[in-house]
This record gives sequence, C-alpha cells and structure tokens, in this order.
Amino acid sequence: MKAIIVYYTFTGHTQRAARLLESLLSCDHEEIELVVPYSGSDEEINAITQNQTENKETPEINKLTKDLSNYDTVILGTPVWWFDIPPAVRSFLNENYLSAKRVFAFITNGGNVGNSSRTIKEFVPSLDGNKILYLDFDDETLDLKVSIQRWISEIFHQQG
Ligand SMILES: Cc1cc2nc3c(=O)[nH]c(=O)nc-3n(C[C@H](O)[C@H](O)[C@H](O)COP(=O)(O)O)c2cc1C
Repeated sequence: MKAIIVYYTFTGHTQRAARLLESLLSCDHEEIELVVPYSGSDEEINAITQNQTENKETPEINKLTKDLSNYDTVILGTPVWWFDIPPAVRSFLNENYLSAKRVFAFITNGGNVGNSSRTIKEFVPSLDGNKILYLDFDDETLDLKVSIQRWISEIFHQQG
C-alpha cells in the first residue's frame, strides 16, 4: 500500500489529526491550499465562506506538490463548513479523479457534519461511508490519538 493523506485546514484541527495519522502510518501528506487565502475579519470570512460553500464554488487551489498517480490509497481530511465540505476541498475533489483508488476520509467538525460525507461520496462513490472517521473538536471527551488508532485498525487491518 502506498498512501497519502490529503487535507485542508483553516484553524489547525484537521492538520493535527493528519499529522498524527501520518506518524502512525508513516505515509506522505499533501495540504490543500487556496491560491488566494481568506483574509479579513471573522464576519467577512464567515460571509465569504458561507457564500462560496452554499454556492458550491471551486476556488483555485495550488498545484499539488506530489503526483497522486503514485499512490493507491488516498486519505482525505476535511473540516465541515456550513454543513458541507469547504470550497477548497470541493476544488480538490473536482480536479482529482479518485474513484480508481482506495479512499478513506476523516471529517473534523464542531458537532454538525451536515452534508459533508454525502458530498464527498458524490465525488468518490466508492467511498465506504461506514468507514468515515468523524472527529468532533467541540467534544471535550475527544481523544484524538485513540480515535485515530482505532480507525486505522478498522480500515486497514480488517481489510485483508
Ligand atoms: C467557516 C466555518 C464554518 C463552520 N461550519 C461548521 C458546521 O457547519 N458544522 C460543524 O460541525 N462545524 C463547523 N465548523 C467547525 C469546524 O468544522 C471544526 O472546528 C473543524 O475541526 C475545523 O477544522 P480546521 O481547524 O482544520 O480548519 C465551521 C468552522 C468554520 C471556520
């Protein structure tokens, strides 16, 4: 198996999860980045991100530094924004055909994942929705390392 974690992060949660996962799996990673990052006040960022997310916009993202064709497994990490995936993640899924690969996803959130997994499945129908890892960063009982370790053993070790 050659795996890569591809993730987007804005406030750092998804990156924390991605780094833990990367250290446990000893695999590569790639961060999805907007060509023009969000800036402005919280209100301005909320307004623009809500607008873009609800309109299913696909803002330009930086070219990936790694060639995904070298990997058979992609682990996608994304936050939830406005009950869906952030625009940058939509751009990534729109530009990269992943269905021929093994794809897993972890979704960091604040307690309401909305349509996020459904949207990912629209792009990657082969994704097994039962194997998505939801990490609620507003849940004080969240043990990131234990959740990730348990998930890894579920998705990899039971597959044969
Ligand atoms: C603009 C914005 C919108 C968000 N919308 C939601 C939401 O609809 N549902 C939810 O559960 N969490 C929502 N959150 C919380 C994030 O999904 C959560 O904190 C996530 O772990 C952030 O990941 P990051 O730190 O990697 O960016 C939102 C956060 C932001 C910044």
